[in-house]
Amino acid sequence: PKVDHALSKDLYQLMEEACNFYQAQLRQHSDKEKAQNYLEYRGLSSEVVERFNIGFAPDGWDNLLSRYRDNQGLQEKLLTAGMLIANDNGKRYDRFRDRLMFPIRDRRGRVIGFGGRVFGEGTPKYLNSPETPIFHKGNELYGLYELKLKHRNPHRALIVEGYMDVVALAQYGVDYAVASLGTSTTAEQLQLLQRSAQEVVCCYDGDRAGKEAAWRALETALPLLKPGDKLKFMFLEQGEDPDSTVRNIGKEAFEHHIEQSKSLEAFLFEKLTEDSAGDKSTLAKQAMALIEKVKDEILQNLLLENLAHKLGLNSSDELKKKFGFNSQAAKANPLGAKGLKGRGTPLRLA
Ligand code: UTP
Ligand code: MN
Ligand code: MN
Ligand code: MN
Ligand code: MN
Repeated sequence: PKVDHALSKDLYQLMEEACNFYQAQLRQHSDKEKAQNYLEYRGLSSEVVERFNIGFAPDGWDNLLSRYRDNQGLQEKLLTAGMLIANDNGKRYDRFRDRLMFPIRDRRGRVIGFGGRVFGEGTPKYLNSPETPIFHKGNELYGLYELKLKHRNPHRALIVEGYMDVVALAQYGVDYAVASLGTSTTAEQLQLLQRSAQEVVCCYDGDRAGKEAAWRALETALPLLKPGDKLKFMFLEQGEDPDSTVRNIGKEAFEHHIEQSKSLEAFLFEKLTEDSAGDKSTLAKQAMALIEKVKDEILQNLLLENLAHKLGLNSSDELKKKFGFNSQAAKANPLGAKGLKGRGTPLRLA
């Protein structure tokens, strides 16, 4: 049977074509200066624009669509890929218009989605690809492929909120950041990154939302943590994000701040101490409710010992007796609480 070669293109190929198209518009479209001026205004170098394959979706309803004018089959695939939208009358148009385009790649480097930033003010500030058969936002990390191109086995990776943070950090030589794509960081994203780097540092914006995102990340991470996992938390000045911070203070000072990141347990106890405003019983109950979520028994005991110490108790046994404790970890382990003792696993949380 005769194969329509064009129709055999899959979604990945179409996304790659779109990526190339937007990059070409940045070089040659009659309005390219609009995008180039914005890049200059944001202080992005041509090297980093190249490295992240940043592009330009010009204004207009059919810049991308018109390239597939005679191919209904491919238009339908572009609809599926989220690059085109059909209105109520079935008329199709480009999803991304008049925006700076950030292609999102999967681990293997395939373009699976885009984030498009409006030039200047406007809503939404970032328009993202919808969920599609090849793009599941919560499973992907923006910049992970680009990071792995630089570092096969990164010692450390940062999770930041935004595209601009990843790109600006990379430009300044902090080329090991990924973004969780605006949603709060998911368990899948944490696991994905923990598999890629020995140490993961959450570095969200220096505002209330960023602080809350850090706490949610801690809660998400608790059940996943294993001995030897290193998850840390870095907090920025009020009103700053990683992009603005690295521009203000430079690579060296930024990396110095990374070194000062809080360990998971430091963040956990500091936050709870703050929230409980000196009430030790509240602190104990809230801490134990969180520690109960830890599935790894060694880490759980370590946290309990730590908490007991903070409360001025002699041991975690005393703590358990005093406040009651329902350990899922110990129950899940057929060896019981004593079974794993002395197996020599390094006790590291930070
Ligand atoms: P921010 O509002 O912190 O933006 O959103 P930003 O990354 O600092 O961007 P600039 O510096 O103003 O250009 C953080 C991230 O949340 C997602 C994006 O991934 C963004 O990078 N977001 C934000 C959206 O998806 N849509 C939005 O409208 C806003
Ligand atoms: Mn799927
Ligand atoms: Mn923010
Ligand atoms: Mn921000
Ligand atoms: Mn920003």
